[in-house]
Amino acid sequence: MKLGIVGATGAVGQELLKVLEEREFPVSELRLYASSRSAGKTMRFRGEEWAIEPLPEGPLPVEVVLASAGGSLSKRYAPVWTQQSVVIDNSSAFRYDPDVPLIVPEINAHALQPEARLIANPNCTTAILLMALYPLHKAFGARRVIVSTYQSASGAGASGMQELLEGTRAFLEGQPMINRTFAHPLPFNVIPQIDSFQENGYTKEEMKVLWETQKILNNPSIKVSCTAVRVPTLRVHSEAVSVEFERPVTPEAAREVLAGAPGVELVDDPANGRYPLPHTATGKYPVEVGRIRKNLVFDNGLDFFVAGDQLLKGAALNAVQIAELLLERPQFRQALRSA
Ligand code: A2P
Repeated sequence: MKLGIVGATGAVGQELLKVLEEREFPVSELRLYASSRSAGKTMRFRGEEWAIEPLPEGPLPVEVVLASAGGSLSKRYAPVWTQQSVVIDNSSAFRYDPDVPLIVPEINAHALQPEARLIANPNCTTAILLMALYPLHKAFGARRVIVSTYQSASGAGASGMQELLEGTRAFLEGQPMINRTFAHPLPFNVIPQIDSFQENGYTKEEMKVLWETQKILNNPSIKVSCTAVRVPTLRVHSEAVSVEFERPVTPEAAREVLAGAPGVELVDDPANGRYPLPHTATGKYPVEVGRIRKNLVFDNGLDFFVAGDQLLKGAALNAVQIAELLLERPQFRQALRSA
């Protein structure tokens, strides 16, 4: 596959290169695009240095574009890129367009129509939540979901990680902390605001979890209320989740379902201090799930805790998995056979 990565130098872009390498994705040609600030630099892929190019105005000379350079850039260029390429877009620009499939391969690969030219990659918090919620939903029918998140600095890109590290250093040295990326200084703090506030008092990040859950599960009646909070970790989004199901459920039955679910690792042995953690979930493809217990408020209710590397399942890994689904298309299979 001739592949282009837009935003190659960013937090997600760097992970895309690693995931493509680890999964031995068949790349016949690679084009790396970033801003003019990075033009002339190189990035390493499969032992070789690849030049970073400034993004041209027109279509890109590749079969598939993996875009991860923000919503406004995608909004502007995706219609141009789709003239020549299939676009997998990591931004929220097209996720709510009914004609654009929003795909988590373990959940709704069937929603990826063969003719789709533009495919949206979901919000990181939603993807991580659904990896655990979907298998339980299939088994017991989820009706109402309450989520509180603990989202890491890298959710705001490379600049978010840098701001957390530099702010922590400044704090320890008694210097003022500067915040440009986050609404407040993040070190030694938690910030109950991710993205902008909406008229209903929720933030956009919180509403994305509702909108995208309903779209990916193809279920407009499932109710989700989310409180999204930024915490001073570098990587991995964690989420405390309470769910009311239609059918009776026990923690044992939920554990059995999750133990067999693709992309999920059951880490649920609290007596021995084993439960999902950002430290253990960092760099890991599966999403960790644990602290599974009967919820004391809902009938047929469960509580659990999820931790997933949002740069991977919440972004780069999911995008590469979508590209792997595209490889099954006849045009790519043909090209691979003749290569
Ligand atoms: P650059 O590193 O040259 O600024 P992150 O999400 O980690 O902040 O990364 C954003 C990515 O989007 C980076 O690769 C960044 O490149 C890239 N980017 C930002 N603005 C543009 C632009 N105008 N054209 C192309 N790439 C851009």
